[in-house]
Amino acid sequence: MKIIFVCLGNICRSPMAEAMFKEMISSAGLSSQIQVDSAATSTYELGSLPDSRTVKELAKHRLPATGMIARQLDETDFNSADLILVMDKNNLRDAKRMAPDKKAADKVKLVYSLTPDKEDHVVADPWYTGDFSTTYADLSEALPHWLEYLKKKLK
Ligand code: 4NP
Repeated sequence: MKIIFVCLGNICRSPMAEAMFKEMISSAGLSSQIQVDSAATSTYELGSLPDSRTVKELAKHRLPATGMIARQLDETDFNSADLILVMDKNNLRDAKRMAPDKKAADKVKLVYSLTPDKEDHVVADPWYTGDFSTTYADLSEALPHWLEYLKKKLK
């Protein structure tokens, strides 16, 4: 099973989600069954390390930000992923447009889509606000629902 988190640049929100979800998967003893990665819809930050403020926010929660380098979502991702989880509605539109076919496009879902009563919410974008703690809080709210979903699926 493979999950890919996606945002615009792959330096703020999606690497944060990747690091957080890897830790959740590891704590649940599922690291050998679930692969976690992240990617961008754009080419803006190709080759960049996670934003220093994402690294700082993760460090607050004792999470490492290692081994992540910004890259763009590609056709291999659409074929290999089971789920492509995006942060906001622009990501949703862009990632669906990048999909090679309908089956691949259907893998693209909002990270919030499993959160009861908040299915159409979006993860706060810290790029202009500098507010990385709200992004972390949003992901903390949305990601556990995906862990539960995957646990059931793997049973
Ligand atoms: P991210 O944040 O999509 O969460 O990685 C951004 C990174 C770069 C830009 C915007 C948002 N940018 O405009 O370059």
